[in-house]
Amino acid sequence: MDSKEIMDKDKEFFIQGYARVPIVLTEGNGAILKDIEGKEYIDCFAGISVSNVGHAHKRLVKAGTEQMSKLLHTSGRFYNIPQTKLVEKIAEITPGDLKYTYLCNSGTEAVENAVKLVKKYSVSKGKTGAGMIALECSFHGRLGYALSLTGQAKYKKGFGTYANAPGVVHAPVPYSYRSKLPEDEFGTEAALAVEAIIDRHTSGDVAAFIMEPILGEGGILVPPDTYFETLTKILKERDIPFISDEVQTGIGRTGKMLAGDYWNLEPDLMTLAKGLGGGMPIGAAVATSKIAASVESGDFFSTYGGNPVCSAIALENISIVEDENLMDNANKIGKVFFDGLEDLMKKFKLIGDVRGKGLMIGIELVKDQQTKIPAADEAKNIVNVLKNSGVILGLGGIYGNVLRLQPPLCISEEQALSVLEKLSNAFDKL
Ligand SMILES: Cc1ncc(COP(=O)(O)O)c(C=O)c1O
Repeated sequence: MDSKEIMDKDKEFFIQGYARVPIVLTEGNGAILKDIEGKEYIDCFAGISVSNVGHAHKRLVKAGTEQMSKLLHTSGRFYNIPQTKLVEKIAEITPGDLKYTYLCNSGTEAVENAVKLVKKYSVSKGKTGAGMIALECSFHGRLGYALSLTGQAKYKKGFGTYANAPGVVHAPVPYSYRSKLPEDEFGTEAALAVEAIIDRHTSGDVAAFIMEPILGEGGILVPPDTYFETLTKILKERDIPFISDEVQTGIGRTGKMLAGDYWNLEPDLMTLAKGLGGGMPIGAAVATSKIAASVESGDFFSTYGGNPVCSAIALENISIVEDENLMDNANKIGKVFFDGLEDLMKKFKLIGDVRGKGLMIGIELVKDQQTKIPAADEAKNIVNVLKNSGVILGLGGIYGNVLRLQPPLCISEEQALSVLEKLSNAFDKL
């Protein structure tokens, strides 16, 4: 079969709930992907920030096949060895009092379970647990409560009250690019806006505040340092638990194991998925002992959660990130990209902002560097030109104008330079 036949067949039987890049992928190796016609691409999106150790990593394949040949599935009813080892490892890599992990199957589920945990905790303390604060421009999933927490209208349209659970309030996002305030001041102001939301829009009975330490789908938005200084103080004063959604930023992506490590965040709950499983469907909600203590037997269950194959691969995946110094490589190659992009920014007025950490990089395109009017069509165009020249880029941002560079963390300098050259050619063409 060729790609056209596959795409036509897919249209016949698959619910077309999202637009796809017209490529049928068949193989991968490191940071390289191959399509059904044999064309190679440098992967700069890693399956949306998932394949952090690279495609077809031999150690991942071995861990998975060995476990699969022994036992593929147990259900959550039984103990299994990889699951226990994995939750122990997660406790080791997560900060502060985070210790207890609940395993599930995706990022959305991780968020749902974190919400359920914190609601139970809130009720166990005699509160209602009614309120939840999230950020505008955030993304936490497209189902259930996670969709309500997501702060972007485009994901909610057409779903009525399903997309807006009562009690969820959104605070302004710390997205400084269009602010006239100095970065530090902007960060403090944005955190104070959360305080105002709590005090003016809720009864004070807030089960939790949730945010991505670097917002991914919203356009790789890195809050100023002052934001977290003020925010954590406000939450502590009001005894509001902090859920850090590290689904997209976690497991080495930003050059540290967790993005929150840049600000020494010690959240009360953390969600992980994507980079945790290196491509296997796994999610985790990690809680402090205090929050986990409110759980009673029967509160949670998942048939597949903690599946031994997913757990064995996730465990090996974290070890590879550590053993192969992939966080160092993320910082090293991240710098190659940042330096190259800074040069491109001087040359091309279309590039308004370059931001991120490690190998989580956003390039915001604007009609003009002064007016900062978003250039969404141009961004789409660049992604398309790059695809044709053999590079897969991500696209995001609330205006759809942010190119996202989130390659496997094993990407080489030579590959990064090739991506920069192709980007430069594409901007030249535009
Ligand atoms: C921060 C964050 N949370 C949650 C999710 C939802 O994850 P999933 O698509 O695995 O359900 C995503 C997905 O992009 C995400 O970026």
